[in-house]
Amino acid sequence: MLRHFLRDDDLSPEEQLAVLDLADELKKRPYGDQLAGPKAVAVIFEKNSTRTRFSFEVGIAQLGGHPVVVDGRSMQLGREETIEDTARVLSRYVDVVVWRTFAQARIEKFASVATVPVVNALTDEFHPCQILADLQTIRERKGTLAGLTLTYLGDGANNMAHSLLLGGVTAGLHVRVAAPEGFHPLPWVLDAVAKRAAETGGSAEVFTDPSAAVDGADVVTTDAWTSMGQENDGKDRVGPFRPYQVNTDLLAKTGKDTIVLHDLPAHRGWEITDEVLDGPASAVWDEAENRLHAQKALLAWLLQQR
Ligand code: CP
Ligand code: NVA
Repeated sequence: MLRHFLRDDDLSPEEQLAVLDLADELKKRPYGDQLAGPKAVAVIFEKNSTRTRFSFEVGIAQLGGHPVVVDGRSMQLGREETIEDTARVLSRYVDVVVWRTFAQARIEKFASVATVPVVNALTDEFHPCQILADLQTIRERKGTLAGLTLTYLGDGANNMAHSLLLGGVTAGLHVRVAAPEGFHPLPWVLDAVAKRAAETGGSAEVFTDPSAAVDGADVVTTDAWTSMGQENDGKDRVGPFRPYQVNTDLLAKTGKDTIVLHDLPAHRGWEITDEVLDGPASAVWDEAENRLHAQKALLAWLLQQR
């Protein structure tokens, strides 16, 4: 059956676990023939990228596939061709489409007519590939996922906050989001999160007090205060966020042996300090590496479902 990965709840809890287990296997044995043929994978970017771009291109090659990495702004899509027509044509050439774009509605539209699996490589609303890598990293460090508490601090309405909530509760995590008023998660995302949490025993809670939010946290994470595309949205994206900076003082308030994640790129001295990012609690470089393993697992899994 044709499957897409447009948001975190496109994988059931069991399927998410299967992908994470495969990611661990691929980390031990990186080279394989899961995409032999070679299967062609279009990887399209309408926003900047370092990790996503390199990890997909390298990962596809390591599995015997052929990556076609394109700047979406140079495609006819960037002129007058519709999303649907682009999806129809690309479906005739490639076996999977991976797309980083703006509104989630764009990738939903693409997937509605595509006849090959479509993967969300980041939209304004979700970043589900990143969360697979985050979960792999947490499990490596903590040995388990279900029942752990993860606290995210920063913009609660951005792609990382939403995907940590949705992907986190899928894994049975207790996910807390601490954000200033006006930057809380979107209500329709919280509805989807509550639905998934009811199946798994995970939970979601929104805080404005950063100290209360980190109390007892096993994992603390953050993200840019200004996401790509928000540079000129007229909101103050510094002042309200200062109390949510991940620094040594805040980390000490967990009262636990906490690990720190950051999807990167980090804005050192803003949402996270050098001391924390480069300190003993930081798992960010493993997290970045795991993008490679988790995405390879995802691609192999999606193609197995066909
Ligand atoms: N974390 C992440 O998606 O990084 P890039 O924007 O560099 O791909
Ligand atoms: N929230 C950030 C994530 C970057 C990987 C952004 O969308 O810019």
